[in-house]
Amino acid sequence: MENKVLSKTFSKIILIGEHSVVYGEPAIAIPFHGTSLEVSIKKCDKNHLTCKFFDGNLEETSEDLLGVKTLIEKFLEFYKIKEKICVKIDSDIPNERGMGSSAASSVGVARALFEYFEISHDSNDIMEWANISEKIIHGNPSGIDVNVVLHDKSIYYIKGQEIQLFPINLDAYLIIADTGIKGRTKEAVSDVRKLVESDEIYENYVKELGVLSQNAKKLIENNQPAKLGEIMNQAHELLLKLTVSDCELDIMIDISMKNGALGAKLTGGGRGGCMIALAENIEIANKIKDSLEKIGKNVWISSLKNEE
Ligand code: PMV
Repeated sequence: MENKVLSKTFSKIILIGEHSVVYGEPAIAIPFHGTSLEVSIKKCDKNHLTCKFFDGNLEETSEDLLGVKTLIEKFLEFYKIKEKICVKIDSDIPNERGMGSSAASSVGVARALFEYFEISHDSNDIMEWANISEKIIHGNPSGIDVNVVLHDKSIYYIKGQEIQLFPINLDAYLIIADTGIKGRTKEAVSDVRKLVESDEIYENYVKELGVLSQNAKKLIENNQPAKLGEIMNQAHELLLKLTVSDCELDIMIDISMKNGALGAKLTGGGRGGCMIALAENIEIANKIKDSLEKIGKNVWISSLKNEE
């Protein structure tokens, strides 16, 4: 019997506020529909997991898949389920690149389990189960990734507060480009914490990032992409001071600016992963895309008009 697709989730992009969001500052994140992840489940003799990196018994999964493995095991145990299942994850979201692949798999698997076993649930239940996996992968995540993936809507997010849906309708295009280097979110978050605890100057950078997110919100509401671009540049400078950028990201940001971007910055945890650039029209967006593809990068363009 073929696996039945029970959930489809998408990637996410943090527009502004990564890292500072961990300290209670606001951040803006948007779903990105250019890449996605599907989860299907069918009955099996043994609990089994299939994905890009693994195909075998659930109990023999590698360290990388510990989050999803634990989520599935705890779910079956909690609901006293004896049936054995094969869980299949099909994804084209680049892994560990700040595009939310772990949130997409955590939310996707949690939702698929509820659907397959026909257990009534709401979005809070999915969030709770997805967080079991996320905490193993990220340590102590702010929750921004899971929230944007779960709701599949742009959000203005402050940790610990009810999420605010934040529809974006901006006359601009977002270019998303992958360095091809695995980001190191857990390590970056931990290093930023050490800096923040060591010197007030770093705490101030975090606060400044929070102010930039607030300003970005107003600029988006007033459809002012050029000023938003400037804010993105300032955010990147602060992330650089927090030591979470790297050479490759900076080169790609530089290329984007030289090809007409209104602004550019890293997105997500940094130290590898992805960067984003803002362009005022599709011609400039394509020019930036071409210039980044010339140096061998994977690049996507997303319209910010009505959150296409
Ligand atoms: O690297 P990603 O996509 O998982 O983004 C992490 C965002 C951080 O703000 C750095 C961490 C967090 O938990 O919010």
